[in-house]
Amino acid sequence: MKRILVLGAGGQIGTELVPHLQNLYGKDNVIGADLKDALVEKLRENGIGEKVDATDAQAVADLVKKYKADAIFNLVALLSATGEKNPQLAWNINMGALLNSLNIAKEFGCAVFTPSSIGAFGNSTPHDMTPQDTIMRPSTIYGVCKVTGELLSDYYFTRFGVDTRSVRFPGIISNGQLPGGGTTDYAVEVFYEIIKPGHHYTCEVPHDSYMDMMYMPDALNAVTQLMEADPSRLKHRNSFNIASMSFTPEILFDAIKKRIPDATFDYNVDPVKAAIADSWPNMMDDSCAREEWDWCPKWGMDAVIDDMLAACRRKAGME
Ligand code: SER
Repeated sequence: MKRILVLGAGGQIGTELVPHLQNLYGKDNVIGADLKDALVEKLRENGIGEKVDATDAQAVADLVKKYKADAIFNLVALLSATGEKNPQLAWNINMGALLNSLNIAKEFGCAVFTPSSIGAFGNSTPHDMTPQDTIMRPSTIYGVCKVTGELLSDYYFTRFGVDTRSVRFPGIISNGQLPGGGTTDYAVEVFYEIIKPGHHYTCEVPHDSYMDMMYMPDALNAVTQLMEADPSRLKHRNSFNIASMSFTPEILFDAIKKRIPDATFDYNVDPVKAAIADSWPNMMDDSCAREEWDWCPKWGMDAVIDDMLAACRRKAGME
């Protein structure tokens, strides 16, 4: 992997994955591409930024040719809660960008990374220590796209030899670009809200819904570690369970309250998010990732809370 095209580079993961890749591979070897002008401008402030609609196969192929990219990281996605508002659009965007990435990779000999998610699982999946290989019958269009994406990516590997690799991301906690339209977003939003005067947060996810979560630095390392892994060790490809911590809103909020004693929380549960959260694993078993490419997360909940509070306060000009 020498020159990487990142599609959806202006999103929650992309804005932090691009600098991470620049550090590892050099600024000239990372091409950040996004649909939105403002996000492309931001990418250009610190490296190469291109405007592209990832569902436009020709436009993506032109970028691969122009930069001689040998890897495509496809981060384009409409998330779970937003997807339920417009399933057709979610399918078109999520599958369009992935199919283009796979076909272009096949033509130009690129590797492909595209994230899967805890959203690939459903009600009939074992919820505790969810195995790597298990029942996958998701109830959201987002999950349907993720399972399809996993199968397609494996198919392009076995049928055409495209070097596809992927992880099932938990909810990702970060302090760069905000996530949008996800069921796990509460675990990011709460930090931005709770430092404001009033110190109050209203949560749309039920107090007792366990979901896997991960801090962005671990998520970034997972991507590059997997893509650099020795292929002869990989028994799986699309996609690996990766886990680092799992908590409920109540557990997270109690721990925040220890740091901000006058913080208050209440719940205005969104039934769509509640049903989605309920259908997802409580905690995944990530032993295959640990065995096959030495996955080893560094961040746990308490360290994440301290770091997020400090970062959000800095951003708000409070420190
Ligand atoms: N963070 C995503 C969501 O909540 C899950 O991968 O939709």
